Amino acid sequence: MKNIILHIFTLFILVKVQDTSEKSVEYYLNLLQDFMRNASQWQEPTDSRRFFQLVNEQEESIHHGDYDFIIVGAGVAGSVLTNRLTESGKYQVLLLEAGGQENDFTEVPGFASLLIRSDFNWGYKTIPQKNSCLGFKNKQCNYHRGKAIGGSSVINFMVYVRGSKEDFNKWGSENPGWDYQNVLPYFKKSEKSSIDLEESEFHGHDGLLSVENVKYHPDIVQKFLEAVEQRGWKILDYNGKNQNGFSKLQIMTEKGKRCSAGKAFVKPAMKRENLEVLDYALGTKILIKDKKAYGVEFIRNGKKYQATASKEVIISGGTINSPQILMLSGIGPKEHLEELGIPVMQDLPVGQTLHDHQIFPALFFSTNISTNNELSLEDHIRNYLQGFGLLTTASALSGVGFESPRIKSDNPSVEYVFFGAIIDQAAPFLTDFIGMTEENWQAISKPIKGKHSWGIIPILLHPKSKGTLKLKSKNPLDFPLIDSNLFSDKEDDDTEEMLAIIKDILEISKTSAFQSIDSKYLSDPFPACMDSKHLSDDYWKCALRQVTYPILHAVATCRMGPQNDKSAVVDNKLKVYGISGLRVADASVMPFSISSHPTPTVFMIGEKASDLIREEYGDL
Ligand SMILES: Cc1cc2nc3c(=O)[nH]c(=O)nc-3n(C[C@H](O)[C@H](O)[C@H](O)COP(=O)(O)OP(=O)(O)OC[C@H]3O[C@@H](n4cnc5c(N)ncnc54)[C@H](O)[C@@H]3O)c2cc1C
Ligand SMILES: *[C@@H]1O[C@H](CO)[C@@H](O)[C@H](O)[C@H]1NC(C)=O
Ligand SMILES: *[C@@H]1O[C@H](CO)[C@@H](O)[C@H](O)[C@H]1NC(C)=O
Repeated sequence: MKNIILHIFTLFILVKVQDTSEKSVEYYLNLLQDFMRNASQWQEPTDSRRFFQLVNEQEESIHHGDYDFIIVGAGVAGSVLTNRLTESGKYQVLLLEAGGQENDFTEVPGFASLLIRSDFNWGYKTIPQKNSCLGFKNKQCNYHRGKAIGGSSVINFMVYVRGSKEDFNKWGSENPGWDYQNVLPYFKKSEKSSIDLEESEFHGHDGLLSVENVKYHPDIVQKFLEAVEQRGWKILDYNGKNQNGFSKLQIMTEKGKRCSAGKAFVKPAMKRENLEVLDYALGTKILIKDKKAYGVEFIRNGKKYQATASKEVIISGGTINSPQILMLSGIGPKEHLEELGIPVMQDLPVGQTLHDHQIFPALFFSTNISTNNELSLEDHIRNYLQGFGLLTTASALSGVGFESPRIKSDNPSVEYVFFGAIIDQAAPFLTDFIGMTEENWQAISKPIKGKHSWGIIPILLHPKSKGTLKLKSKNPLDFPLIDSNLFSDKEDDDTEEMLAIIKDILEISKTSAFQSIDSKYLSDPFPACMDSKHLSDDYWKCALRQVTYPILHAVATCRMGPQNDKSAVVDNKLKVYGISGLRVADASVMPFSISSHPTPTVFMIGEKASDLIREEYGDL
């Protein structure tokens, strides 16, 4: 681990040159140096005891106050709710957030993959896996989650993809109000778009969330777009009428700086007198009496508190933590709760399904053209301060597209994310961020070390495999047990799908566009896959199990569904079945994985939840 940090350090810091005349450039250089120093000392947590201590467990909780609404978690959805529920001034709202404020460092998109090595990350990992992540340390996949006002949108990669019309129509077919026609206005409501290649009736311009075309345009991204056109794909606005096609990345930044949910939604509400925000506060239990939620218990500064909500408690802790706090409060699968000695309030399938997307980050090609990364760090920072360049995107991502290599469909089965840079610059992402072992990283990178390269990272959008989320114990300071369980579907369809995708990407590399820049796949075999003929189907199947990674798009642990659906936790108004005064609003309610990166959809959920609540209490 030290090596990797040193490596990142070298890449960025040792290029440091003489010019310190500009204050702001120097400020960012120092900030980076300071962050890297902290990161090198950062210990991966194994539970929440480092963040929260309870001095005396037996202590009575201190009464903190009475509110109309209490929101637990200032993530993407929680931030929107915080803003909208305090808008009219009618309600007293308490917001509890386990993390703190974002800063100038988290604001730089180009530093995104470094942020996991800080207390902005909860620091979760999956339990050891059987069929995926075998080539990662201890067969576990890192499962990063943001901990801040703004939640995971403070550490995420900011890619803005909404999902297809088909996804929402499927969602809405079981859950009235959630079909495409009904959700589109909420996507537009949150959005402040400044995209040039857009279909305007599909975009909003007066929302709080800034969305723009990526401000990083290396020449090589043009080759990517040419190549996919040569394969018969369209260049289009993938958040417009039709999703199948390619373009430059749409990204949640404002003039090249991260636009988190906290910045967009909480900050403008902070001065409202009817809002109280408590950071570094961990919600530990929903208080329930006679099947009604009436408040929340939480820990802050080593003390236990409680607060009451006369109208509703809204849980917005995200796909990992919302099911955790529900189960800690006795809402969950009866058997599991009884096993842990938690009194059952409501028997519901909380955490029984966890859906995620998966990536195969091993398709990198050498090329003979420059990928635009020769500038010094100072130059990159200077460009960033002007609002463009490498640091205005995460991990050099620049292009993206959607298609279905196996079965033609309006709902794409795969997303291709394009990366172009010197391969060594992918080290922080591949080794530290996703946790690939050194020998596997060497297999991928050694043959193209120091060379300009490009890669397509495929994201399987509708995997059939499903995982689970359980509690380790009834102690709120224990991490929950995350099992992403990739490649577990009975028909092994996910493997077949991934195999078709790998072949499709190899075909893309053979287009005249990519051949004109001498693209070559040169990687060494993964040590664990030496028994199979290199690049044969068997080889790829082995490789898939080595380095396929669940890409942190977890949904569905508190699934929305109709009452007769045995896997449903909340109804179409986000109300928890069987308990009144309690809703869940975040990515966990999404019924299944869709053709998107989840954040835009979670902004939509936050906007729609706010309207549902305000309508119910006559505030609209
Ligand atoms: C590294 C990374 C990269 C990603 N890249 C992208 C991307 O490029 N594009 C995209 O669309 N999506 C991306 N995602 C996914 C996306 O960020 C999440 O799907 C989205 O943030 C989910 O929103 P949420 O409101 O459900 O939860 P979150 O945003 O995770 O927020 C939950 C909040 O609740 C707080 N909380 C939890 N439990 C408690 C408690 N008990 N008490 C108090 N507070 C609590 C947490 O600290 C957190 O702040 C990425 C995620 C990660 C981690
Ligand atoms: C590094 O850690 C110190 C001490 O915790 C903190 O004050 C500082 O803000 C951190 N620096 C960065 C850039 O995160
Ligand atoms: C890159 O390789 C291609 C194909 O071999 C060749 O035509 C081209 O001239 C090369 N370009 C450079 C800059 O070397």
